[in-house]
Amino acid sequence: MTATERSIAAAEKYSAHNYHPLPVVVATAQGAWMTDVEGRRYLDMLAGYSALNFGHGHRRLIEAAKEQLDRVTLTSRAFHHDRFGEFCTALAELCGMEMVLPMNTGAEAVETAVKTARKWGYRVKGVPDGKAKIVVADNNFHGRTTTIISFSTDEEARADYGPYTPGFEIVPYGDLAALEAAVDEHTVAVLLEPIQGEAGVLVPPAGYLPGVRRLTRERNVLFMADEIQSGLGRTGRTFACEHEDVVPDVYILGKALGGGVVPVSAVVSSREVLGVYKPGEHGSTFGGNPLACAVALEVIEILRSGEYQERAALLGDHLHHELGLLTGGPAVTAVRGRGLWAGVDIAPGIGTGREVSERLMARGVLVKDTHGATIRIAPPLVISKEDLDWGLERLREVLTAG
Ligand SMILES: Cc1ncc(COP(=O)(O)O)c(C=O)c1O
Repeated sequence: MTATERSIAAAEKYSAHNYHPLPVVVATAQGAWMTDVEGRRYLDMLAGYSALNFGHGHRRLIEAAKEQLDRVTLTSRAFHHDRFGEFCTALAELCGMEMVLPMNTGAEAVETAVKTARKWGYRVKGVPDGKAKIVVADNNFHGRTTTIISFSTDEEARADYGPYTPGFEIVPYGDLAALEAAVDEHTVAVLLEPIQGEAGVLVPPAGYLPGVRRLTRERNVLFMADEIQSGLGRTGRTFACEHEDVVPDVYILGKALGGGVVPVSAVVSSREVLGVYKPGEHGSTFGGNPLACAVALEVIEILRSGEYQERAALLGDHLHHELGLLTGGPAVTAVRGRGLWAGVDIAPGIGTGREVSERLMARGVLVKDTHGATIRIAPPLVISKEDLDWGLERLREVLTAG
């Protein structure tokens, strides 16, 4: 048995089969490259679903973590620690907001946003108790908890997990008239991904996000943007909402906020919104821990320079230009996305998204399929143009070899 086979066999036997990973066993990684247990190198064109925006082992992030490991890693929120205030200040400033509520995973941040919107609805807006409604979009992906999958339209994510949490209405993504019709006097929030990642990197029609902003403001409803995958540089701006000059009431952040080192997520908003909490009403043992804050502070510092947003914009233009050349050909039916982020729909004759991902893997490129016929391309923003071109050349090979 090879080291790869041994590792996969152990995972197959002892881990729940809630994922279907590509058959590669990564041992080390640096920048945009990963090395497997046999010493083979792969270009990472997925970046941990955007959790690795700054690449593997970013020196500043690893140093920030190491330094903090030697100081203090966890206090719980029973006590203050010396990185917490600093982190909240820096994140609030980055977002142009007033308050931060830190959690760990993306799903926890979305849950926190849902709770926050309901509490704001009852305490500030004056919605009658138990009546709060949150409007969401179809094909959304906001995480895996019981409440979040209650408003998913993906049967795979949802089936067998009922009874489902009530209080959500689902409307078609990108359809402003449908959203307007769904918002009523009990609506406390509209929760949306500014670009739908898991759905296949779906960019809504131009004018949709500004329309949502106008509507929510007119109706005294919170606009909550789930920027967990789209945010923090991926699209060429700090937030995907910025492309349409939209500032939501609530940012929901995760993934890259932890620099690919530790899970860090947060809800960021105004004092009117996050000020609804009193001690004991919400929390997390690990949320805002010193290690998380130290790494996230460095992430925020890196984002402040704008360097990676600029890289994502420039390399993203190049990526979309190159992918555009494939579109309409025999292998690719559509390409969507923004910045260093693309969903590529593979023509039926060429193979499934999974098959294309496996063929790319055999040529040293790692991507991930979604929804059968789509592959998602989201390399770390640190990728060099040469490496990106090398990866795209492998994609061309795979698509033309059939
Ligand atoms: C937009 C969005 N929201 C929420 C989540 C859930 O994040 P996590 O897997 O950290 O719970 C994801 C994960 O892919 C996501 O893409």
